[in-house]
Amino acid sequence: MSNVIRFALLGCGTVGSGVVELTTRNAAYLATRVGAPLELARVAVRDASKARAAKIDPALLTTDVARVLEDSSIDIVVEVVGGEEPAGSWIGAALRRGKSVVTANKSLLAARGPQLLSIASEHRADLAFEASVGGAVPIIRTLRDHLVADWVRSLRGIVNGTCNYILTRMRDESASFESVLAAAQELGYAEAEPSLDVDGHDAAHKLCVLALLAFGASVRPEDVPTEGIRAIEPVDHRFAARFGYGIKHLAVGRETAGRELDLRVHPALVPLRMPLASVDGVLNAIALEADGAGSQVLVGRGAGSLPTAVSVVADLIDCARNRRAGVSGLQTIGLDVTRRPIAAPQSQEALWYLRMRVADRPGVLAQIAGALGAHEVSIEQMVQEGGGRRASDRQGTDDTRVIVMLTHEAVEANVRAALLSIDAMSFVHGRSLALRVEG
Ligand code: NAP
Ligand code: HSE
Repeated sequence: MSNVIRFALLGCGTVGSGVVELTTRNAAYLATRVGAPLELARVAVRDASKARAAKIDPALLTTDVARVLEDSSIDIVVEVVGGEEPAGSWIGAALRRGKSVVTANKSLLAARGPQLLSIASEHRADLAFEASVGGAVPIIRTLRDHLVADWVRSLRGIVNGTCNYILTRMRDESASFESVLAAAQELGYAEAEPSLDVDGHDAAHKLCVLALLAFGASVRPEDVPTEGIRAIEPVDHRFAARFGYGIKHLAVGRETAGRELDLRVHPALVPLRMPLASVDGVLNAIALEADGAGSQVLVGRGAGSLPTAVSVVADLIDCARNRRAGVSGLQTIGLDVTRRPIAAPQSQEALWYLRMRVADRPGVLAQIAGALGAHEVSIEQMVQEGGGRRASDRQGTDDTRVIVMLTHEAVEANVRAALLSIDAMSFVHGRSLALRVEG
């Protein structure tokens, strides 16, 4: 076995610690799979004195990233710091020096993926990013390599482990949003800034990365219509189940007949018979529809130290093999990325779940139905919770009732306008909720 392949870690938190653990524990086996030993040469962090989950030789720790990037003996840089800057400049600098780069950084890839890929190709270096979407789920390889001969027409994914974990525990235990988010942070699922997860931005970043590979589309993350999960309450899970649905936070991408891209991120009602409906906890899943392959669903752990590190190390091995073979860029060769317009969601038709809280008074339903009708939204099913025909049937002294409806197909802009006028009615409490029904 010959020349050692030396790699450096930028960042050694949740994901970085998993990479140290896997590459140390499986060193001998990985060396046989590469044909050369992998040597961890440097670990750059913000605070070298901090206690770490992984056992690291203190001599490897540094806070001087520039020196790591200048070290010509380092072949591969693994960036697991996160955020657009300084990570973007570091990756650009590493690629310009001909180093291969492995990254899990979806926010950076969403903002600058095509640009970084072209720097990689210009400098004959690899840029690999399996861990950026789906944690341990091999969705990047599936789109990039396996479906290379096929055309992907649509994808629907549960791509944020934190959101799925929160929705699952709120549904099963009626747990509070705050307590479950704290647990997701403790388990290493959430981003350093957890609003990226719960407000849907992390899923939008991942959708941009998927759109790059599935549709050859360069899309700005800020152009992707994005909603998070803060408005979902345990009562919504109860009603969704009663209608035969689960609530999932989805990233959806598809090509419309006019070659526009319909890209969006939002919570949605998913029929219980669909595979995505039973994907719970930190699991992620991506359902693909392709011309030749037909339907397929990939499922696995979407976040956490070791599941994510498995994808990072798989990329590390690919890069190491390529360097041994003296080749680069094979996986992304000819990836033709163009800027593509995103279809306006407001004009699209969908079935809707509507939930509102109202005072239990005569005439309320008629006014709500009138407002929906005036905006061409017609009701398919309706349920009211908490009321009773006799005063003695009613629960407690609170006269607030929850009304939930499923609509027939309706244009999003009309649904939103109807809810605005309903929420302005004096008997409506708080903001009403509209969720799409998918599938
Ligand atoms: P993390 O636990 O917060 O770790 C970040 C690491 O970066 C820490 O070791 C930190 O150093 C280091 N760092 C931050 N700023 C730095 C700077 N200016 N210079 C040098 N080092 C710096 O984050 P993580 O959860 O491992 O996530 C890392 C990346 O992987 C992110 O892009 C994230 O989106 C992505 N990702 C995470 C998961 C997951 O499940 N957590 C899954 C997939 C992808 P200190 O330790 O000294 O503070
Ligand atoms: N915060 C992300 C999630 C990590 O919860 O899915 C994995 O990308």
